[in-house]
Amino acid sequence: MKIEIIDLVKDYGKFRALDGVSLTINRGMFGLLGPNGAGKTTLMRVITTLMPVTTGQVRVGGIDVMRDPGFVRKNLGYIPQDFGFYKSLNAYELLDYIGVMKGLTRIERQKQVKTLLEQVNLTKDAKRRVGGYSGGMKQRLGIAQALLGDPQLIIVDEPTAGLDPEERIRFRNLLTRLSGERTVLLSTHIVGDIEASCSAVAVLNRGQVIFSGAPETLMRHANGRIWQVEIEPREYEQIESTYRVTASRTASGRMLVRVLSLENPLGRGIPVEPELEEGYMAVITATEKEADHA
Ligand SMILES: Nc1ncnc2c1ncn2[C@@H]1O[C@H](COP(=O)(O)OP(=O)(O)OP(=O)(O)O)[C@@H](O)[C@H]1O
Ligand SMILES: [Mg+2]
Repeated sequence: MKIEIIDLVKDYGKFRALDGVSLTINRGMFGLLGPNGAGKTTLMRVITTLMPVTTGQVRVGGIDVMRDPGFVRKNLGYIPQDFGFYKSLNAYELLDYIGVMKGLTRIERQKQVKTLLEQVNLTKDAKRRVGGYSGGMKQRLGIAQALLGDPQLIIVDEPTAGLDPEERIRFRNLLTRLSGERTVLLSTHIVGDIEASCSAVAVLNRGQVIFSGAPETLMRHANGRIWQVEIEPREYEQIESTYRVTASRTASGRMLVRVLSLENPLGRGIPVEPELEEGYMAVITATEKEADHA
């Protein structure tokens, strides 16, 4: 199910949170990156019909979300950034309850709840109060509730914050598996999550799309601008105040830093291949510079 976002503007009072966003999101897994406050959650909430647009249009499967919010809701599974659970229910009761809200029959609920609990590996804990669940278990329960009713569109807002690496990878693999026939829109700060799973990505900054395309294309934005320099620890401050450091490590009293820079740092950097995260930093830095000059 395709999402088409056309010239979308969203204001909170006088504050413009989304400023002319246009994006097409196709089947598969689509990653949404951007710094804190970029507008990712706002964009997702508008798509889910939880919030009205100010101007512009969002179409899901060709249907305008403002004109027919019911259509989107029927086809949507949403995992919000902050998931408020009914803490005193157990997983079984909670999913059954959400199934009722989604209009599933008793038989459909019985079947789906059982399958989903198995899929997210919570069968063993299904009779425990969800208030006592760990962060990872809550995330998995969040997925299960989103998948009730077999939605064609799944929107996941920053799911992996607070998960240990093993849970993160399990979560990511589950989403990848789901994205086969569906559209999965995933927002995250963890560039590695995008790299491992998304075929398309957009970067949002200050309410505007500053990049949209393949992850490899994003990475190429840092081509020729990533340098590795070996420095003395005492040189670090100078490096950091002059250049954007993307990584650093110490080995036997010397420091190896990677920096994003147009020119060779200290005249003794070695050009190296960029990582995806550095491509992301390159596009963010470019727009920050423009904003400074404005
Ligand atoms: N209900 C609201 N009222 C007023 N301003 C809001 C509201 N919700 C969000 N904002 C502002 O809109 C901007 C975008 O917020 P949003 O939550 O969409 O960003 P985000 O990209 O999801 O950030 P994060 O990475 O921290 O989750 C921020 O400047 C935020 O302060
Ligand atoms: Mg957010």
